[in-house]
Amino acid sequence: MQSDLKRKRGLSVLDLLPLIEARSARVGVIGLGYVGLPVACILADNGFHVTGVDINAQKVETINRGQSPIGGEEPGVAELVARVVAAGRLRASTAVTDLAEAHIVLICVDTPVEPDTHLPLYRGLRGALTSLGPVLRDGALVIIESTIAPGTISGVVIPALEEASGKKAGVDFFVGHCPERVTPGRLIQNLVTMSRAVGGQTPDVAKVMVALYSTYVTGELDPTDPLTAEVVKTAENSYRDVQIAFANELAVVCETLGADVYAVRELLNKSPGRAMLMPGAGVGGHCIPKDPWLLIANARDQVEARLIPAARAVNDRMPEHMVTLTERALAKHNVSLQGARIAVLGYAFREDTDDDRESPSRYFVEALERCGATAIVHDPHVPAYQRPLEEVVTNADAAVFMVAHRAYQNIDLEWLRGALRHPVVVDGRNVVDVNAAASAGLTYIGVGRRLL
Ligand SMILES: NC(=O)c1ccc[n+]([C@@H]2O[C@H](COP(=O)([O-])OP(=O)(O)OC[C@H]3O[C@@H](n4cnc5c(N)ncnc54)[C@H](O)[C@@H]3O)[C@@H](O)[C@H]2O)c1
Repeated sequence: MQSDLKRKRGLSVLDLLPLIEARSARVGVIGLGYVGLPVACILADNGFHVTGVDINAQKVETINRGQSPIGGEEPGVAELVARVVAAGRLRASTAVTDLAEAHIVLICVDTPVEPDTHLPLYRGLRGALTSLGPVLRDGALVIIESTIAPGTISGVVIPALEEASGKKAGVDFFVGHCPERVTPGRLIQNLVTMSRAVGGQTPDVAKVMVALYSTYVTGELDPTDPLTAEVVKTAENSYRDVQIAFANELAVVCETLGADVYAVRELLNKSPGRAMLMPGAGVGGHCIPKDPWLLIANARDQVEARLIPAARAVNDRMPEHMVTLTERALAKHNVSLQGARIAVLGYAFREDTDDDRESPSRYFVEALERCGATAIVHDPHVPAYQRPLEEVVTNADAAVFMVAHRAYQNIDLEWLRGALRHPVVVDGRNVVDVNAAASAGLTYIGVGRRLL
């Protein structure tokens, strides 16, 4: 009934423009993780009243104390959380009902894929939509910032919100998709400076979204439709995955041929238009390992995608390859992998962050254990593995560099050699200087280096 009355009056998404301009639009953010928390903080810092909602009560409590639950080296985030919470501009809650007054709701929940089928697992997304629906304000704009499979706005988001709210998309509420491009370690800088594909259900929705993001984004804001935005986001990470897979495959080929992939890469990149990436011990994080699967999820019944799954397979094999390299280096000292004690240096998926989702180190440790080795893990940022480095390397049969944390960059190789039971270093991230390792009397083996 209320909805019918409003419809007669004619709800327009453009009504939100003056509210955005005056910063009087109330903003809700669902999902306060690596993406949602910084977004909520930046909007709050720009003058909006923001309510953040998360199902994780501990996270909500931490934020309401003015602290950031994000660890690692994350410039600016802790200060921003403290500032906007103290100013009363950001409040976190576990209750979606607190978004009943929100004019704009950003959804930033995690969007994993099912490990066996690689199909999207939208538990968080569906949960957010079905809980938001009943309290969704007339005229509200709902923006999905999470990465989603192309076709999800039309096939999942709109139907789920319409069903849960009893309202009609494009009439009683509006929907857009503005995928995030951030990387842990540079969240604030990325959020502010990177360009964005702004997918609105209609050009007017995109216009309002551009107005909202203009309040803090200095990068270009490109209005488009939701499907294009869905494809752009999943394709850009698929592209990166394919590029990394090329570097990894070339690295393994170089090892066998006796060439050095880093020397090859430097010269290869002198050829115009070439920009080969670095090879490494594997690809992790919440995004790149699943976004290629999201890209093809709704097309794969009709199109046989070959390159994208092949790239996933190449990159997924790297932790296993690290085990092969470790075994080979140990053999130089007549040490078998079975029963060996391996110091694993780094557990986060990326240097200087605490994010260990889909960490290649996890798969490396599992593969080591299958071979009968014992893994002792160190990571300066991941709470479960924060312990003295000395404790981890002392009497280990090999030290394996899995992450290029700053803490490992200038490691004293003489000291390392003295601590290890056998002087074996395996380098999955090009962290150790090969010549310095040789001078320190270490047996060095690395991804893309000539095999021993
Ligand atoms: N992490 C990145 O660097 C990054 C970069 C670009 C895009 N993305 C995309 O952004 C999205 C979020 O990623 P993230 O890294 O911030 O994930 P995250 O796991 O750090 O945060 C997601 C948060 O959502 C909460 N949540 C889940 N379901 C909920 C629900 N129904 N109601 C309320 N809260 C709920 C979780 O408790 C969690 O705190 C994903 O789609 C991801 O692919 C992430």
